[in-house]
Amino acid sequence: MTLTNRQLLLQSRPKGLLAPGDLQISESPVPELKEGQALAKVKYLSIDPTMRVWMVADTYLPIVPIGEVMRAIGFAEIVESRHPDYKKGDRVSGLTGLQDYVIIDKSAKTFFQKLPKVPFVSDTVFLGALGTNGLTAFFGMEIAAPKKGDTLVVSAAAGATGSIAGQIGKIHGCRVVGIAGTDEKCAWITKDLGFDGAVNYKHPDWKEKLAAATPNGIDIDFENVGGEIMQEVVNRMNLHGRVVVCGFISGYTKADPNMVSLGTVIVKRLHIQGFLILDYASRFVEAATQLGQWKMFGKLKDRETIVEGLEKAPEAINMLFTGGNIGKLVVKV
Ligand SMILES: NC(=O)c1ccc[n+]([C@@H]2O[C@H](COP(=O)([O-])OP(=O)(O)OC[C@H]3O[C@@H](n4cnc5c(N)ncnc54)[C@H](OP(=O)(O)O)[C@@H]3O)[C@@H](O)[C@H]2O)c1
Repeated sequence: MTLTNRQLLLQSRPKGLLAPGDLQISESPVPELKEGQALAKVKYLSIDPTMRVWMVADTYLPIVPIGEVMRAIGFAEIVESRHPDYKKGDRVSGLTGLQDYVIIDKSAKTFFQKLPKVPFVSDTVFLGALGTNGLTAFFGMEIAAPKKGDTLVVSAAAGATGSIAGQIGKIHGCRVVGIAGTDEKCAWITKDLGFDGAVNYKHPDWKEKLAAATPNGIDIDFENVGGEIMQEVVNRMNLHGRVVVCGFISGYTKADPNMVSLGTVIVKRLHIQGFLILDYASRFVEAATQLGQWKMFGKLKDRETIVEGLEKAPEAINMLFTGGNIGKLVVKV
């Protein structure tokens, strides 16, 4: 029986949020497997802010060409194999793209990681807390070099990366304050995740609330947002504070991102470091093992927002920029 593959192709480069038609669904038969290939059924797709960047710019990865399947990380299961490294039933994560099926080809350079079946652990955790976001939080917090008693501020704090970064801060004995866009998110990070404080940046007095929540200044900024939020946090940094630049989501949908004025960096002798999770690939197993242990012992909690249906992926991408997700945003294919 010939299988049909639905694919979301990039048809135009979005301006602002994705508009209908920027990604369009197309159907084609799955080709016969050649020697050295495996066919994987995509089960879950990781919805990441960087996808919006891949649509419009050459950055650390090349821009997605018009007419091609939109790049995305996914969780998939091998359904047929003529590839020496995979057998039917193997579970993998990697760059599956926004589609139902992906062919893993021995001769291509695409990277897929085999995943274990862990009792009582959902498959989607390998896209979030034990996947890219958990690893990003882990290595970002390693750069932050947290010390007991430091005040750590995390922006996009109820998101996939921020929620884990804040909890790692708590494990290291920091006083952790999160910035998020709804009262529900603020309640989740303080009541369930143990953050010491939370500030809803959509309230008009959020700057005063941030000052009240950080009476001794800020030692570490785990920066996910950029723009006005980062500016306010940087203004409150203590001498020799560390700013870990993980992402600038407030700028990804804008042609002219609101940049931060960095005069304070000199006066406060701040240490600013950007990083990309790709650079830490050789240490993923070490970090995932540590994250898994923390999760097992209840020190790390995670939450997911699951959107059903491949065709809903464009709406899901927009949810990242309107704050529609709590924790990891995933599309169930
Ligand atoms: N450096 C790396 O290797 C790396 C790897 C992964 C992710 N990242 C970065 O980490 C950040 C978080 O990514 P994620 O995947 O964990 O997404 P996420 O935090 O789960 O989702 C994005 C969240 O950002 C907040 N947000 C969106 N636009 C905003 C704005 N204009 N101002 C303030 N908050 C805004 C929204 O929450 P609110 O309701 O709070 O607004 C939204 O829920 C992104 O900047 C991403 O690019 C970097």
